Amino acid sequence: MNRGLFITVEGTDGCGKTTQIRNIIDHLTSMGCKVVVTREPGGTRISECIRSIILDPAYTEMHSKTELLLYSAARAQLVEQVIKPAIANRETVICDRYVDSFYAYQGYGRGLDMDMLRQITSIAVGDMMPDITFFFDLDPETGLKRRRNAANGDRIENEQLDFHHRVYRGYKQLAKENPGRIKTIDASRSVEEVWADVRKQLDAVLGFVREI
Ligand code: TYD
Repeated sequence: MNRGLFITVEGTDGCGKTTQIRNIIDHLTSMGCKVVVTREPGGTRISECIRSIILDPAYTEMHSKTELLLYSAARAQLVEQVIKPAIANRETVICDRYVDSFYAYQGYGRGLDMDMLRQITSIAVGDMMPDITFFFDLDPETGLKRRRNAANGDRIENEQLDFHHRVYRGYKQLAKENPGRIKTIDASRSVEEVWADVRKQLDAVLGFVREI
């Protein structure tokens, strides 16, 4: 394979992505892969500045169009500065959230036009799509309960439960539409059970990649 693998991790807030990302990193590193870990929104100096604006709970007046453009601007910078060069350098990139978050949150959550989102995404990322996406499937009530026990919510987490339900349904729809790329993982189970499942899927992709 003359380029690196691009892995993204998705799910509603509090679905347990962080723990599993650590497991994925350890697993890939132990296999000798060079791993680049990044996140959205963020991952570059500019994108992290944009992130702090997007997530600041003080900006209650932010218009959904502003939000959409800020996420896209942060993503464009990350793709050009981090993801593209790493993939070209045969490194494996793990990105905590990517375009599926955009479709789930801004599309299904905010109700913005999907065609418009696709056009903006094509400007922001070109054809840089993940090889595999893990969707950690956890109902929003459980996720938000976990999260809110830990800390005060950011601007997105503070949205009404309704919003998070739309996002969740959006993810399920995206998974249905992209069964080859998006692997749905039942995240209501123990950390160990979830990891066993992720690892199985990951090894299958790695095996496939080694063969080509
Ligand atoms: P973050 O704290 O990174 O959430 P988590 O730890 O749950 O991944 O905050 C990112 C928030 O931004 C999260 O609520 C999802 C949201 N988001 C969008 O609405 N659109 C997007 O395109 C992306 C990448 C994230």
